[in-house]
Amino acid sequence: MEIEQVVISSGGEGGSGGGNAEAAGLSGGDGGGSMFLVWEDLTVVLPNFGNKPTRRLLNGLNGYAEPGKLLAIMGPSGSGKSTLLDALAGRLAGNVLMTGNVLLNGKKRRLDYGGVAYVTQENTLLGTLTVRETLNYSAHLRLPCSTAKEEIDDIVEGTIMEMGLQECSDRLIGNWHLRGISGGEKKRLSIALEILIRPQLLFLDEPTSGLDSAAAFFVTQTLRNIARDGRTVISSVHQPSSEVFALFDDLFLLSGGETVYFGEAKMAVEFFAEAGFPCPRRRNPSDHFLRCINSDFDLVTATLMGISQRNSKSIRFFGKSTNSRD
Ligand SMILES: Nc1ncnc2c1ncn2[C@@H]1O[C@H](COP(=O)(O)OP(=O)(O)OP(=O)(O)O)[C@@H](O)[C@H]1O
Ligand SMILES: [Mg+2]
Repeated sequence: MEIEQVVISSGGEGGSGGGNAEAAGLSGGDGGGSMFLVWEDLTVVLPNFGNKPTRRLLNGLNGYAEPGKLLAIMGPSGSGKSTLLDALAGRLAGNVLMTGNVLLNGKKRRLDYGGVAYVTQENTLLGTLTVRETLNYSAHLRLPCSTAKEEIDDIVEGTIMEMGLQECSDRLIGNWHLRGISGGEKKRLSIALEILIRPQLLFLDEPTSGLDSAAAFFVTQTLRNIARDGRTVISSVHQPSSEVFALFDDLFLLSGGETVYFGEAKMAVEFFAEAGFPCPRRRNPSDHFLRCINSDFDLVTATLMGISQRNSKSIRFFGKSTNSRD
């Protein structure tokens, strides 16, 4: 079947993101393919038209991502990781307002087109296709029309290998009434769909969530290899293992929409230690950081502590009264 070349905006969900970089004439943007992304005083607010105050989802964030490096965005649930990725990729929802600058190779420009790919937190796949068919369709639609069929086949097979999808390559994806590949395989397929076009700038929203530790390591290592190929990779991540954490070059730590730490990932332990929160020996550093900055559960913890203290008092009291009765 002959498929015409189509330029797709990366604003869409899941598999369609990325667009055709070369067709859009944006392959690599400025600077011979490398993409430097800088954000300055990035603020995202949710205006409230009632009497309630305006809510700040991100507050004055500064940072950058450079080619050849894997930047991890970490933070508790609801801290603004997806919002930051959306703001950087120019795909914020219409009900929020963004101020500040997002500069690509020093210039303000829209990022919601070719050369940039985004793997969303949720998978959006067609359940009635197999893994290989999905990748084939996407490759035919998004790779330059000058690409020979054999070349496309090689790219598809290479990507299947790269994401460890050989086992399930001819299985149906499945949907609500058709059992198909597993959740982790779907996640890997969503990533495969985006790395297929070798974007210069790749955003991923929690690519390792739902994967077992070996698969999470494998996927993160693939992302690091993509970065080492001169590409810029920005990924939010939820509670990585220490092995996965060690693969990150840079770290952006968010809490309540504010920056807690931005810099080299391996220096974060030192930063926390100097701030008075040394990471205990043998503890996963990312667990330690999240435990230190997660304010959501402060009240819960305090309540639980209060309850357990009250319980221990009442147990003592009950013990006494029982004794006194005796
Ligand atoms: N368009 C929007 N409208 C209203 N609230 C929003 C919008 N986008 C984000 N928020 C709110 O901003 C906060 C941060 O959301 P976000 O999805 O960025 O968090 P997250 O760090 O990605 O969380 P998770 O780890 O659970 O995915 C949440 O409280 C969310 O409800
Ligand atoms: Mg999120």
